Amino acid sequence: MSQIQIETNPSYPVIIEKGLLNILGKSIKPFLKGKLLIITDENVDSFYGRVIAEQMNENNIEWDKYIIVPGEESKSLEVYGRILEYMAAHNFHRNDTVLAFGGGVVGDLSGFTAASFLRGIDYIQVPTTLLAAVDSSVGGKTAVNLKEGKNLVGAFKQPKAVLCDPDLFATMKEERFLDGVAESIKYGILRDEELFSEFETPLTQRDARLSNIIERCVKHKAEVVKKDEMEKGERQFLNLGHTIGHAIEKASGYEVSHGHAVAMGMGMMARACEKIGVLKKDNRERILKVLEKNGLPTKTSYSTEDLFGKVYKDKKCSSDKITIIEIERIGKCRLHKILIEDFREYIEKGRV
Ligand SMILES: NC(=O)c1ccc[n+]([C@@H]2O[C@H](COP(=O)([O-])OP(=O)(O)OC[C@H]3O[C@@H](n4cnc5c(N)ncnc54)[C@H](O)[C@@H]3O)[C@@H](O)[C@H]2O)c1
Repeated sequence: MSQIQIETNPSYPVIIEKGLLNILGKSIKPFLKGKLLIITDENVDSFYGRVIAEQMNENNIEWDKYIIVPGEESKSLEVYGRILEYMAAHNFHRNDTVLAFGGGVVGDLSGFTAASFLRGIDYIQVPTTLLAAVDSSVGGKTAVNLKEGKNLVGAFKQPKAVLCDPDLFATMKEERFLDGVAESIKYGILRDEELFSEFETPLTQRDARLSNIIERCVKHKAEVVKKDEMEKGERQFLNLGHTIGHAIEKASGYEVSHGHAVAMGMGMMARACEKIGVLKKDNRERILKVLEKNGLPTKTSYSTEDLFGKVYKDKKCSSDKITIIEIERIGKCRLHKILIEDFREYIEKGRV
């Protein structure tokens, strides 16, 4: 078992342990004051619903469950409102706790529910996807989507604890697991060459290295979040590959998943950074090779104009400039503020 303390305000532990699901009741009990609402989705519930029920009952936890339809569409005001109404109708109080048992969709939705129900109650995260384990369950960002765009309504709300069992990733669809691999490789490129090297041997869903890799990624995210809880500076580093990635997600009408889009974004930034003389050729080659070896894409067929149009629309309303993350070498990146217009060149140079 490993435990990392996230030093935000308030601070909380991330506990990573293989087989933790089988002691979930005992593990969450110290964090509970009243009853528990478990929020999960249909897929996750079909795999783990029975064990969860056993765990709660064996440990005399008063609990209830709300199951959402899987997928991004559930991160909506409608579903959010229905959960709040369910909680009010079932007499949930200030002392009660929400448990997010699922991927990033369940985590973001449950976190925002907990942040706003009765002006805020406790919540605990049990991430069931690799992406949720290394990224969305840590850092306190919660949100739902509007039809105008993703994550437009939300709050910063730190959980009481994050409990992660890497054995849960065995049942994931491979494509979704790879989304988490992309975000994990990102931490390597950003700040940890040794972590990056781990991916030279592709990561698999039952990999014995999972606990260790998650621990390292969470430590990196924790360090960044500690310096910049409200995302005003340092936290921008976590957006490596995301400016192009978001444009690709949008251009595809969200057919391309977030992790795959970020992999493309990182691959394209690696090519662009070599061409502008910031990154050495051997580093660019290693980055592309590691992404490809792990089954991730490194470029896109959307045109430069198409992608630039999306970036422009996204950023132009806030400023004439954007901060991009340039790769200097594997393990070291830098923030660079440029005119939005100049980003077109990065997209073009990243293509091939
Ligand atoms: N809050 C943050 O800081 C942050 C950071 C990154 C991403 N996000 C958000 O996270 C979301 C994406 O998260 P995600 O990739 O985990 O997607 P997700 O929650 O939609 O899960 C992906 C799919 O896997 C299924 N699934 C989950 N766990 C499973 C398991 N153990 N076995 C079998 N199937 C399982 C789900 O039912 C779903 O169909 C997006 O909404 C994104 O905006 C938030």
